[in-house]
Amino acid sequence: MCGIVGYIGKGNVKEILLDSLQRLEYRGYDSAGIALLDTSNKIEIFKKTGRISNLRLDLHSVNSQAKMGIGHTRWATHGGVTNENAHPHFDCGNNIALVHNGIIENYNVLKNLLEKKGHKFNSETDTEILVHLIEDIYKTEKISLEESVIKALNLVQGTYGIALISSYEPNKIICARNGSPLVVGMGQNEMFVASDVNAIIPYTRNVIYLEDKEMVVINEENCNTFNLNYEKIVKPISKVEWDLEAISQNGYETFMLKEIFEQPDAMLNAMRGRVNLPEGAIKFGGLNLTEAETRDISRIIITACGTSWHAALVGEYLIETFAKIPVEVDYASEFRYRNPIIQKNDILLVISQSGETLDTLEALREAKRKGIKVLGITNVVGSTIARECDGGIYLHAGPEIGVASTKAFTNQVIVMIMLAIYLGRLKHMSFYEGQRLLNELNKIPEKVNEVLKQAEKIKAIAKKYQYAKNFLYLGRGFNYPVALEGALKLKEISYIHAEGYPAAEMKHGPIALIDENMPVVFLATTGPLYDKVISNIREVKARNGRIIAIVNQLTDDLSKYTDDVVIVPETFEEFSPLVNVVPLQLLAYYIAREKNLDVDKPRNLAKSVTVE
Ligand code: G6P
Repeated sequence: MCGIVGYIGKGNVKEILLDSLQRLEYRGYDSAGIALLDTSNKIEIFKKTGRISNLRLDLHSVNSQAKMGIGHTRWATHGGVTNENAHPHFDCGNNIALVHNGIIENYNVLKNLLEKKGHKFNSETDTEILVHLIEDIYKTEKISLEESVIKALNLVQGTYGIALISSYEPNKIICARNGSPLVVGMGQNEMFVASDVNAIIPYTRNVIYLEDKEMVVINEENCNTFNLNYEKIVKPISKVEWDLEAISQNGYETFMLKEIFEQPDAMLNAMRGRVNLPEGAIKFGGLNLTEAETRDISRIIITACGTSWHAALVGEYLIETFAKIPVEVDYASEFRYRNPIIQKNDILLVISQSGETLDTLEALREAKRKGIKVLGITNVVGSTIARECDGGIYLHAGPEIGVASTKAFTNQVIVMIMLAIYLGRLKHMSFYEGQRLLNELNKIPEKVNEVLKQAEKIKAIAKKYQYAKNFLYLGRGFNYPVALEGALKLKEISYIHAEGYPAAEMKHGPIALIDENMPVVFLATTGPLYDKVISNIREVKARNGRIIAIVNQLTDDLSKYTDDVVIVPETFEEFSPLVNVVPLQLLAYYIAREKNLDVDKPRNLAKSVTVE
C-alpha cells in the first residue's frame, strides 16, 4: 500500500505535494519522493528513504518554480527500502516521471522485453517497468502520451493507481486506476489528484472518484476521463462532507474498525500472485530455500509474541495437518532463554507484524547462532526481522495503525495456510487436494465480508455484556487459538479480564468460575469435534453461565442452550479461524466503545515492543 498525489496550478507545488503526502503517510512510510516540472519543462526528482519529514528536510533549501508535480509515499512491495526504489521513477531520457500504487504482476516478462530493446533500469521495482513501457510506446508508435499510457496499461497485469508527468507534453498530469484508489480534487484554476481525499481535503471538497480501468487527464482548468478504449466518460462531481480527522481514518470512527473492515481486501493482497489455482499450488518469491532443502526440513519451530503467537498456534495445526512436518510453537521470550534443542534440519519461523519486536528478534538471532535457517513472516517491509531472516513471506496487510492487531492476524493465518499447502505439495499432497483447498481459500474474503455485515448485531450483543467483569472464550482444535485471540482482544482494548481455553480443559479448573455473571464465548462452528463442543455448552448452561456462540447454523440444541448467537458462513475447519475471529474482534471492539475507551491506543500497550 502506498500513497500518491499530484498537483497542477499556480500554488506552491512543492509545499502542496509535501503537505498532501503527509496526510497519506499512514498508507506507507518507508520512503517518499516528488517530481517537479519547472517552467522550462524540465523534470527534477527528489526522493528519500524514511518518513516524509526526511524528504521535507532535504527539500528545505530547494526554491522550486514548478508548475506541476507528483508525489509518493511508499510501502515497499517490490524491492527493498532504498532511495533508488523510492518513487517517482524516470524513463531512460528523464522525460517521463511516474508514481504508482499497486503491483504489476507481469513485470518480469515486460522487463525482459524492454531490456532487449535497450532500456536500462535503476531500481528493483515493478513500477519502473511501466514508465519505460510508456516511453517505448510513445517513441516507437509516435502516438500521444494519453494513448501511450492506455496502450501500456492494456499490456499490464496487476493493480495500479498511477500519476505521471512528462516534459514531452508538459501541461497535463495523466492518472489511471485499477484496483488502487484515485480521486481527483477540483479547485479554482488548480487540480489535485490523490490516493484518497484525505490528502487534498484542505484545498477542495469537489472531487471525482475514478473507477477501475479509467484514466483521467488533468490540466489547470479541466479534467477529462476516459476508459481504456480511449472513449470519453462523463463523471459526476461529489462533495466531500467529512472532516479531516475522520477522513484520515477513511471515514471510520477508529483505525481499528477500519482495519477490521479492511480484512477481506488485505487477505486478497496476501494471496495475490501466490495462489496458483490451475496447478493447485502456492508460489512464494522470497523463501530462499531450495526445494531439496525444503523437503529435508524435519521440524519447524515457530516463535512469536502476542497476537502473532496465536497465529503461530494456528500454523502448528495447519502445517502438521497439511504437510505432516512436526511443529513446535514457543513464545519468543521463552525460546531465547531456554537453550532450546535445535537439530540440523530444523528451521525457525518467526512471525511479527512490525518486524521489530525485540523478543522475536533475539529468538531469531539465537537460532542463527545455533546454525539453522530462519524464515520471517512480517508485515513491515525492510524491518529488522525481515532483513535479518534468511528468507520470508510478507503479509501485504497494509500499515496497521490500531495497536490491537486485527488484519495482520488474519493475514498471518492466510500466510500460514499458504505455507502449509506449499510444504504439503512438495511432499505428499495431491494436485486435487491442493486445488480443493485453494478453491475454498479464494472464497474466504467474501465469507469474511458476510460476517462484517453483521456488525450491528454484534454491537447489540456487546451492549448487553459490557458490564461483565470476566469473560471465558472456549474453542477446540483450530479454534483453540481463536479463543485465545478473542480473549486477548477483549483484554487489550476493553480492560475486561478474559481467558481463552481449549473447550475441554474448562472442566479442569475454569468451570469453578462459572455463574450467572460469567459470559462464555463458544466457537461452535462445524468440525469433527462439534458434538463435543455442544456438550461443553450444555455443561456451562447447567451452571447458569451466559453463552454467546459463534455457529454455522442454529440447531435446536444451540437455540436451547445459547443466549446469543452469531451465524457465520461455513468453511473448511482448517480455514475457520479466518472467519470465526472476526465476530470476536467486533465484540471486543464494540464493548470497548460502549465503555468509551480509546481502542486505537489502549493504555500501557505499544504497537511494537522493542524492549524486553
Ligand atoms: C505488542 C502488540 C501486540 C502484538 C505484539 C507482537 O504486544 O501490542 O498487538 O501482537 O506486540 O507484535 P509483532 O509486531 O511482533 O507481531
